[in-house]
Parts: sequence; C-alpha cells; structure tokens
Amino acid sequence: MSVQRRKLYHCTTNANSQTKMRPPLSLYICVVAVFRATHGLDNGLALTPPMGFLSWERFGCNVDCQRDPDNCISERLYRSIADVMVSDGYRDLGYVYVNIDDCWSAKSRDQQGNLQPDPDRFPSGMLNLSSYMHSRGLKLGIYGDVGTETCGGYPGSQNFLQQDAQTFADWGIDLLKFDGCHSSRENLAKYYPEMSRQLNRTGRSILYSCSWASYDILNTQRMYESNKKYCNTWRNFFDIQDSWRSVLEVIFYYGIDLGNFSGVAGPGGFNDPDQLVIGDFSLSYDQEKVQFGMWAMFAAPLYISADLRTMRPEAKAILQNRNVIAINQDPRGQQASFQIKIENIQVWTKALSFPGSYAIAFLNPESGGTPTSVTLTLSQIKLTNQNGYNISDVFDDTPIGTYKIADKFSISVNPEGIVLLKIVPL
Ligand code: GLA
Repeated sequence: MSVQRRKLYHCTTNANSQTKMRPPLSLYICVVAVFRATHGLDNGLALTPPMGFLSWERFGCNVDCQRDPDNCISERLYRSIADVMVSDGYRDLGYVYVNIDDCWSAKSRDQQGNLQPDPDRFPSGMLNLSSYMHSRGLKLGIYGDVGTETCGGYPGSQNFLQQDAQTFADWGIDLLKFDGCHSSRENLAKYYPEMSRQLNRTGRSILYSCSWASYDILNTQRMYESNKKYCNTWRNFFDIQDSWRSVLEVIFYYGIDLGNFSGVAGPGGFNDPDQLVIGDFSLSYDQEKVQFGMWAMFAAPLYISADLRTMRPEAKAILQNRNVIAINQDPRGQQASFQIKIENIQVWTKALSFPGSYAIAFLNPESGGTPTSVTLTLSQIKLTNQNGYNISDVFDDTPIGTYKIADKFSISVNPEGIVLLKIVPL
C-alpha cells in the first residue's frame, strides 16, 4: 500500500477538513515570539534526548510479508533489529528504544473496541514483543494517532484515548509516538493534552512523543510551551527524507527558530527534527556526519531509521561516536543556536553542562571541490573567559590546543561537511 507522506504544515480550516500547505518564507519572519516561563511535562522521562530505532523512514508502511518477509512491518523486523542493537553495541551506547511506526495494527478494533496488532504480522502479540525487548535491556515504542485514523489509514485514537492508553500500558509499551492526521486544530489542542493525562493515569512510564507542533502553522512560543507541558518530545518539521536536501531544510528551519523553539527545549522536553537517515541510500560520508553532528547540537532524539542489519561500517562508526553522543546527551539539554556565518560556514553553539564550556559546530552547507578554511577568534563567537580555552575536535577525539579569546585559529570544513569542536575554559 502507499502512504502519502505528510508535509509540515497542516492548516485545518474547519473541524472536519484538513488541508496541507507550506507557508511562504515571509511568514517565518513575521511571527514575533514572546518569551514565557515554561513548566515541562513532569513524568521523569527524556531528561536527555531519547535514543533508539524508528522504522518509518526506512521501512515505511511495507505490510507485504509474503513478498518481503525480512523488511515488512512485523514482529520479525523489530526483533531482528533489536538483536543487532544488542550484538553490535548500539544499546550500550544508549540506543534503547525500538520504535514501531504506523501500519502495525489490524484495520479494525476488536469487539470491545480495543486496538489489536495485525494477527499475521504480530502473531505473538505486543506484550510478548515488549517482553522480548525488556529482557534484552531495550524498550518498546509504538505509534498511534490523535485523530480518527492514522496517517496510513489505520484506526486512530479519537474517542478511545483512555482505552488506548490503558492498552499500551497493558502491553508494556515504553514510548508512544502520537501523530496528528485526521484531526482538526481544535481537536489537536484538546486531545494531545488529554492523551498525556491518560498515559499518566495508567501509572506506567510512557515517553510521550507528539507530532502536535508539526500540525499547526503558527508555531509560536506559546504553542511550543504547550507541547513542552504535555509532551516529552515534539516533531516540528516535515517528514525527513533520505536526501541531503531534506537534511539541509531541517537545519535551515532550526536556524530560523520560528517561535524561538530552541529556547523551550531542555531536560524532559525536546524538539524533534525527525529520524536519522545515516546508513541509508543517499547521504555521503560527510553529509552523514553533518546530520549526526547537527542532531547532537540540536539535543534531538536520535532515532536511527536504517537497516542496522546491513549497516555500512563507516555509517555505524558515525552513529556510535561516543563524543558526539555525549554532546547530544549533555545533561544541560540545551539546543544549539545559530551564531554567525563566516564566508559560507555557519557557526552554531550549544552550551554544555560543565560551566563555561560549549560545543561549536562549523557547518559547510555548500558543495564544491575544495574545503573552506576560515580564521576566527573565540571572542568573535562571544566567548569571554580571559584565561582562554582548551579546544578539541569532537568527531576525531583529538586535542587542537589552548587559545586565548583574541588568538586566531583556523578551521577547514569539507564541502557539505562539518567540524565539531568542544571548548572548555581554562
Ligand atoms: C506521518 C509522520 C511520519 C510517519 C507517518 C506514518 O507522516 O510524520 O513520521 O509516522 O505519518 O504514516
């Protein structure tokens, strides 16, 4: 079956219809954000960005297990991915969530109105699958939708919020990705918070991953505060595709920071720029480093959507880079913000928990045959410690040296590449 891929902006004109549109750039810049204090969802989860696997981008809504038994959405797929997460060291680096996406359920509810997994593709049932994960030190995530149907046309949770929350808890589910297709703006605002309450009522810790912000055209700070109040993570951009262009669009959007969403992120609640497409078909080695480095800077959930069973070694090495993961998992949970552009190099900074220290990304979004070399001083990127800083390269795990804020240093960045530095005050 084919599922139409959702675009970012879902502008609902009335309660029953849903139109999708992408706003002009002028809209991005005409919305003025007003800062307000935020209280996050206090369920003790996502104190640092969640990490794991999410099937959507790579495995989509492939339900044809006759033709493609190894790759269809089935318990077999999630078990085999889980096995590799354990055997190949992903789990021990923090990738613990194995997340099922759309198209897992039967096309209708059972006679009591309960959601039920497709019996042919999940013959052992969800409780059995979650036990499989738990016995291996992993967690099981599942997908639902706040509206009447999922984006792929499976049963939605509208009118069943309490029942479905209880079903997920009874199945031992640890994360719910809750989509927003087939709903209205009013219902999104009503039912996303309601599902948060219902999950909480079950007494089971279930990380609540919302898509709410990606369905509202007016992504104001207020909107993000609501997301943070009720959700642990929230999608806020287009579905990622396996392409450099798609990765760059996300980065561009995070640079614009419409509604100052970077300021809302922190322990317990993070913006979600969607899955990692590292190890798939399209990105070059440098482009893969860009996605991983920038997602680390964004304090983004790190959900790999690739076939871990056949992962290229250099893609695996990127995904398993401990230093970059440490930047992503820094307990301060700050999302990077764009600082300046020097020639074609974008400079982004993320404050880390060690006082006065930062991760700095130098991103070269452009193609071309030659690396770009830029020379700068630390004072240019607003660093102020008079004693200077120790600088090291994060990807390569190598020291670069000690610099005072007025000292010049040079960085060479590959085309469509990144250099990630860690800067610690002396
Ligand atoms: C939406 C979501 C995707 C995926 C699909 C499933 O498009 O944004 O991440 O979950 O639905 O149908």
